[in-house]
Amino acid sequence: MADVYRDPRLGELAGAGVLVTGGGGLVGSRIVAQLAAHGARPIVLDRFDAYPHPVRDLFRVDQYGAQVVLGDVRERATVKWLADRADYVIHAAAYADVAACTRRPDTAFAANVHGTQTVLDAVVTSSVKRLVFVSSASVYGDGTPTQNGAARFTEDQPLTPISVYANTKLWGEHQVRLMLGGSGTGYSIVRYFSVYGDPQIPKPGSHSWVVPWLTLSAHTGQPMRLNGGGHQVRDMVHVEDIAHATILALVTDQAAGQTINIGTGHPTSVRRIAELIATHYPDAAFVDTPMPEGDPRGGFADPRRATNLLGWRPAITLTEGIDRYVHWLRTTPDAIPDWFTTPAAAPAA
Ligand SMILES: NC(=O)c1ccc[n+]([C@@H]2O[C@H](COP(=O)([O-])OP(=O)(O)OC[C@H]3O[C@@H](n4cnc5c(N)ncnc54)[C@H](O)[C@@H]3O)[C@@H](O)[C@H]2O)c1
Repeated sequence: MADVYRDPRLGELAGAGVLVTGGGGLVGSRIVAQLAAHGARPIVLDRFDAYPHPVRDLFRVDQYGAQVVLGDVRERATVKWLADRADYVIHAAAYADVAACTRRPDTAFAANVHGTQTVLDAVVTSSVKRLVFVSSASVYGDGTPTQNGAARFTEDQPLTPISVYANTKLWGEHQVRLMLGGSGTGYSIVRYFSVYGDPQIPKPGSHSWVVPWLTLSAHTGQPMRLNGGGHQVRDMVHVEDIAHATILALVTDQAAGQTINIGTGHPTSVRRIAELIATHYPDAAFVDTPMPEGDPRGGFADPRRATNLLGWRPAITLTEGIDRYVHWLRTTPDAIPDWFTTPAAAPAA
């Protein structure tokens, strides 16, 4: 773990049991790594089926000494047993793909709504000190563009989700407030903007996760597909910064009962992201493709709450993060899934 993430404020986590649902995924595994580095006792509950083998092995959550439980967040007895042994909970498990949730709203409901309810039922009758609910900037929908073009999202503005995925996250936020507000278990809600960084690998049939999509395309000699011409805007946050902010939300007094954007405050168009990646691949070609259903025009975070309440600022710039991702891909060529280079693959951004 880089020194920048060794945070003395996280010292109180030493020896604490932290249940991380979805701890076997991209973000969860980075959270587990940072928890372990601060002396906490991470406990992972995950189905481990979000990625085809061998992509899930990239996250290697077992290497951090975590207790790993293969299971579903809807399994009441399992979740209750684990919650009763935890001091804190980070609920990051989700059917975490916009396109997949649109195709399979029943699966989205099962994982993101039913699963969240099961976790809340378990923690509200436990001695867990605080639950951090992982939400998403998708709850904002398209927002209203400012004069400069991109929408700036502030936590208390009206929320108008435009996808099944976003709607499940919004439901989760409300349910966390309704069930834990006034209970003996505290909570914080973190709204991630666009997460990227190694070892992120796209999911088949997805249009999320622009950095891996475009980098893998350029790396394998395929054109970088710019949905809607790449004019949509994203606030890109490196996964290590995301993990740091999430753990801070677990223990920071001022974050109790708060909903907090985790974004850099900087808008970047998808086309600009492609241009940054192309600096590493001079032969890369761009092609414009249609906007997929549920893909927001996007916007960027008002990051003041994260700064003021968590004392958090991102440590990795987008240029650095892309450099790191390209370096990682070049040194980890086995990370590219077979399906990505088969003709049936339909990359999107
Ligand atoms: N990646 C992003 O850009 C982004 C942005 C905003 C919010 N988020 C949220 O961050 C969290 C982590 O996302 P990620 O990017 O690491 O995705 P991911 O798919 O890598 O991780 C999600 C993990 O949850 C697990 N999971 C799914 N359903 C489950 C269930 N029913 N029971 C147990 N485990 C289950 C999966 O197996 C997977 O390991 C999710 O809640 C996601 O909605 C991600």
